[in-house]
Amino acid sequence: MSPFSNLEVVVLAAGLGTRMNSSRPKVLQPLAGRCLLEHVVATAKQLDARAIHVVYGYGGDLVPTTLKRLAVHWVLQAEQKGTGHALQQALPQIGADAVVLVLYGDVPLTRVETLRPLLAAAAGNALALLTMELEDAAGYGRIVRSPEGEVLKIVEHKDATPEQRAIAEINTGILAAPVKYLRKWLAALKNDNVQGEYYLTDIVAVAMAVTDGANIKTAQPAAAWEIMGVNSKTQLAELERVIQRNQAQALMEQGVTFMDPARFDLRGTLTAGADVVIDVNVVIEGTVRLGNHVHIGPNNVIRDASIGDDVIIHPNCVIENAQISDACRIGPFARIRPGTHLDHGTHIGNFVEIKNSKIGQGSKINHLSYVGDSTVGKNVNIGAGVITCNYDGADKHRTVIGDNAFIGSDCQLVAPVKIGAGATIGAGSTITTDTPPGELTLSRAKQKTVTGWKRPKKNHKD
Ligand code: UD1
Ligand code: CA
Repeated sequence: MSPFSNLEVVVLAAGLGTRMNSSRPKVLQPLAGRCLLEHVVATAKQLDARAIHVVYGYGGDLVPTTLKRLAVHWVLQAEQKGTGHALQQALPQIGADAVVLVLYGDVPLTRVETLRPLLAAAAGNALALLTMELEDAAGYGRIVRSPEGEVLKIVEHKDATPEQRAIAEINTGILAAPVKYLRKWLAALKNDNVQGEYYLTDIVAVAMAVTDGANIKTAQPAAAWEIMGVNSKTQLAELERVIQRNQAQALMEQGVTFMDPARFDLRGTLTAGADVVIDVNVVIEGTVRLGNHVHIGPNNVIRDASIGDDVIIHPNCVIENAQISDACRIGPFARIRPGTHLDHGTHIGNFVEIKNSKIGQGSKINHLSYVGDSTVGKNVNIGAGVITCNYDGADKHRTVIGDNAFIGSDCQLVAPVKIGAGATIGAGSTITTDTPPGELTLSRAKQKTVTGWKRPKKNHKD
């Protein structure tokens, strides 16, 4: 049970994001494989908010349609008239007893540990502001306090006097308050400022002007990256490094060994067992599970895969949508495509591509092969350069290879076709019909020797 059972979160995400120079709305830009807005909504969910309202506007329906899966309340702000106006659009949907937390769709990395004290303060009938002292406060709203330290107002950088611009304490924009106060304060906002907008920040001055004893509290985040917003591709790249560093740190705390945590990228979710070692330039995407004692060599890309215990992935492989059982060896330079299931102890070697296939226990496909739409039994040996011809130009067909079969090098298995258990296929064969178990089948022209044949000699006259 959440300690804040009446918490409702409003995420402001209607802004333009002009400086991104992108056709995509800013909150859809990716950070560690997820949209900026998804990070913010994930934070709200971690706080067990009873409702999450997202104010959208720029880019029209693109944001709610793209992120439909988030299952939040979408609130349209048709015209972007400022942060105060944006929050006001969400108010009609909010329950009368709610404590409201305002987050920004483009500030993705605020920790819940930072937000909880803010919520606790707001729950005690206060307007709680997240503020921070910055060496370079340019661009931010400044917190103006009385000599006694009481917060009097927030002044936007563009509206600030030189003295106010010298204030180091900035408004992060994140705040929390009981909705009953927000309703009253927001109704009193005016847009008589440099930008002609309804500033949410003006509620501080409004709250101070009214006589119902507004109580203003402030809290600070532990790190500056928690309040960093994304306004440009440079800031997006900076936050990408921050989140990657944090993720690698968390994995190291769980026991993962990185040869260099700065050269690891996780764009999704990774769970790892004990004694996992990850070499440099590994990219993990989607949902990946690693068992115990997994070793991942340099330059591997792994997406949506489950990898068992004691697996070794040599350098330069791409693995996607696959299930790899215990004790497999993969690569270097292997491509494991969607729908692949490698059973216990299989070996997939260099320049081998596997797609939509099950490879049975202990089978080996070590060099230069393509195996697609196939079911390969146990202890099968597939020689170098074997190709399952699964596509006839219109449809895909299956190849079935029985246990203990041996496929010689440079064979083509033209699907649909079945190779019997224990069968041997002679090197260089093109197999178009099913082959019997336990027998040698081959389909190649008989070798002959032309006795006495002479190589042509060069004619020296010309
Ligand atoms: C705001 C704060 C400023 C603070 C800064 C922190 C105000 C007036 N100023 O300024 O004190 O230091 O954030 O980054 O609040 N948005 C809407 N609808 C609008 C306008 C904005 O949804 O009509 C959203 C934006 O998408 C964004 C957030 O609100 O997520 C903040 O808007 P932005 O224009 O970036 O505010 P700043 O000028 O940076
Ligand atoms: Ca901003």
